[in-house]
Amino acid sequence: MSGLLGLHHVALVSRDLARTADFYGRLVGLRDLGVAPAPLADPERPGALAEADARWFGDGGGRAGSLLAVVERRDAPAGHPGVGGTHHLALAVTDRDALLQWKRRFLDAGVPVTGILDRHYFQSIYVKDPDGTIVELATLGPGWTVDEPPDAIGAEHRAPPDDMVVGNRDRARIEAERWPDAVPEITDALRIRGLHHVTAIGADIERTHAFVAGRLGMRRVKRTSNFDDPTSFHWYWGVGGGAPGTLVTYFDRDPAREPRVRMGAGQVAHYAVAAAPDTLAPLADALRAAGLPTSAPAAFGPDGARFDAVAAADPDGQPVIVATATGATSYDAQETR
Ligand SMILES: [Fe+2]
Repeated sequence: MSGLLGLHHVALVSRDLARTADFYGRLVGLRDLGVAPAPLADPERPGALAEADARWFGDGGGRAGSLLAVVERRDAPAGHPGVGGTHHLALAVTDRDALLQWKRRFLDAGVPVTGILDRHYFQSIYVKDPDGTIVELATLGPGWTVDEPPDAIGAEHRAPPDDMVVGNRDRARIEAERWPDAVPEITDALRIRGLHHVTAIGADIERTHAFVAGRLGMRRVKRTSNFDDPTSFHWYWGVGGGAPGTLVTYFDRDPAREPRVRMGAGQVAHYAVAAAPDTLAPLADALRAAGLPTSAPAAFGPDGARFDAVAAADPDGQPVIVATATGATSYDAQETR
C-alpha cells in the first residue's frame, strides 16, 4: 500500500484569469480560495519542480480532491490534447437530475453541452471552459459493480454496452432532453462534489498500468474500451472501491495516429494525486529508485490547504504531482465519516 489517497488537484492554463474565475466561481459554483503558489512541473525537464501563482478553487474547506489551480498565461498558445497530456477533467454531481439542471444552467449561459451520455458506471455531460478545457460533470453512481463483483472490479475487460457506444446513441433524444425550468441558483443538491476523475492519454496501456498501479499504488477498478472510440482501451484506477474523487483514467491511443499533447491554453498542465504526509518521501524514493525523475519536495497551496509536493511524470512524460493530504479525497467518504 503506497499511502495514496486519491486525487489532489488539477492545474489549468488560462489566458484570462478573470474570465476563468467567472466560469468556475460564478457559473460552476466552486469556492474561490484565493491566489497562492501552485507546483508546476516542466514536461521538458522531468523531475523539475517550479512554482507559479495560481488562483485556487474548490470546496470551502480546501479539501484535497476538490481543488483546481488556475495559472494565467496571457500569451499561451492554444493547446491541444494528445499523448503525454490530459484529455479532460471531471467534476462530481449527485445524480441525473442534477446533471439535467446543470445542462440547463450551462445552455442558458450560452455554453454548449454534450449529453447526458450514459457511461454505464456514471452519467455525464461535457462542456468547455472559456479556454477550451474539456470539463465533464459526472454522477457519483452507479459505480464499478454494475458489471463486476466488488472484489473483482478491474480484473477483466468489460466491453461497453452496445447502446452506449458512439454511433448507436439516440442523438436527437439526448440533444433534446432539457430540465424544464431555468436554474439561476446552485442549490445544495446541485453543488459540485469535488473532482470525479481526470482522464489522461497514454501510448501503451500496460505501461501506463505499470506506472499508475505499480508505482503510484492505485487499484485498477475498470478495464473497458473508449465509449467514443471502441477500438481503443479506456482503463480506470482509484483507491479502495474507486469512489469519485480518487479516480485517474487513461485513454490508450496509438502514437502513430494520435499527436502528442500541445501544452497551452485550455490544457491541463498536470494532475496531482494525494498521499498521506508520512508516505510522500518513501513514494518519491521508490519512484526515483525505479528510474523515474522525481523532484525534491516543496510547499504550495492556499491558506488552510497547504501541502508538500513532488513532481514526477507518467511514462509518456505527462507531469504528475504527488501532494500531501490528510483524510479521504472522495466526497462520499467525507460525508459518511
Ligand atoms: Fe471522463
